[in-house]
Amino acid sequence: MIDTVNIGGVSLKKTAALAPMAGVADYAYRIMCREFGASYMVSEMVSAKGICYSDRKTAELCTVTDGERPMAVQLFGSEPDFMAKAVEIVLQYEPDIIDINMGCPVPKVVNTGAGSALMKDTDLAASITEAAVKAAGKTPVTVKFRSGWNADSVNAVKFAKALENAGAAALTVHGRTRDQFYSGISDSGIIKAVKEAVNIPVIGSGDVTDLASCLKMYEETGCDLVMIGRGSYGNPFVFREIDSWFSGKPYTPPTVEEKMEVMLRHIRLIISLSEKSEEMAMHEARKHAAWYMNGCYGSAKFRGRCYQLSSYEEAVSLSEEFIELQRWHSAQKNKQNFV
Ligand SMILES: Cc1cc2nc3c(=O)[nH]c(=O)nc-3n(C[C@H](O)[C@H](O)[C@H](O)COP(=O)(O)O)c2cc1C
Repeated sequence: MIDTVNIGGVSLKKTAALAPMAGVADYAYRIMCREFGASYMVSEMVSAKGICYSDRKTAELCTVTDGERPMAVQLFGSEPDFMAKAVEIVLQYEPDIIDINMGCPVPKVVNTGAGSALMKDTDLAASITEAAVKAAGKTPVTVKFRSGWNADSVNAVKFAKALENAGAAALTVHGRTRDQFYSGISDSGIIKAVKEAVNIPVIGSGDVTDLASCLKMYEETGCDLVMIGRGSYGNPFVFREIDSWFSGKPYTPPTVEEKMEVMLRHIRLIISLSEKSEEMAMHEARKHAAWYMNGCYGSAKFRGRCYQLSSYEEAVSLSEEFIELQRWHSAQKNKQNFV
């Protein structure tokens, strides 16, 4: 039996969750990750103010399908009133959880006082959380943030306590400061410190890419759930690896044939969900195609070719060529071993 963690009445399997990733973890991506066992998912971040002014992308970003549950919709904003109103609007989409982004490092967000800028103003962060909790009613509100703004102001523990007091049902901590963006190593020590300081569940995020790093995150931090972001690029299989381990099932890594089959399925999903032409949808699919080829023989050259793809048929041909190359490469290796 797999353990679960309870977040304000929502039960999540303690395996691995998919991290929110704007511009990457869209509906198609989430569907692929759920199929391979992601236990929980968070939408791409949505602007609270944008929603209040009925941004045309609201429905696209906030819709939660049954196949994705349990799932959170994530909001970012710097004003408690807008946050409360946005929560009311998002509730129409019936998310299982509402998550607030207080970790985004990008200037466009930070310059509005939202995302990780809130780590410099704990009182405002608490007010935003309180407003969201009040507006959300029975739906739990969680917050995701970083270790601090910069190396001189690592305040995640104090920040976490303030958000717990404000009514947050759980917290996700990414062990990097805002100044680090995505470089350097995520600090698991700060996730542990937050876990020890609060009585609500803590989700650990940062540098988990496989079963070993997932188990390390659980062990080193004592966190209640592990979240995977970039480690899932072209690799929904990471969720199968982790889910298999916790379920006591044997795990078989994907063959190159399976990788390409899943890549093509992911591309078909992107095309079928897009309102744009196949060619435009392929622009979106290119980076995913390239990621599925990572780590294989000759992938650098093939990744370059992925960025030229303009139709599904071209993706099929490229995947066949890629499989052929892998077969040729393993035949060469076998020959060398034989000699
Ligand atoms: C392309 C990209 C987009 C991201 N978008 C969001 C976002 O919308 N909301 C959020 O809270 N975190 C976002 N993050 C941060 C991730 O959720 C995660 O905390 C971070 O990447 C560290 O985890 P990882 O090492 O597993 O990638 C994003 C990260 C990346 C790489």
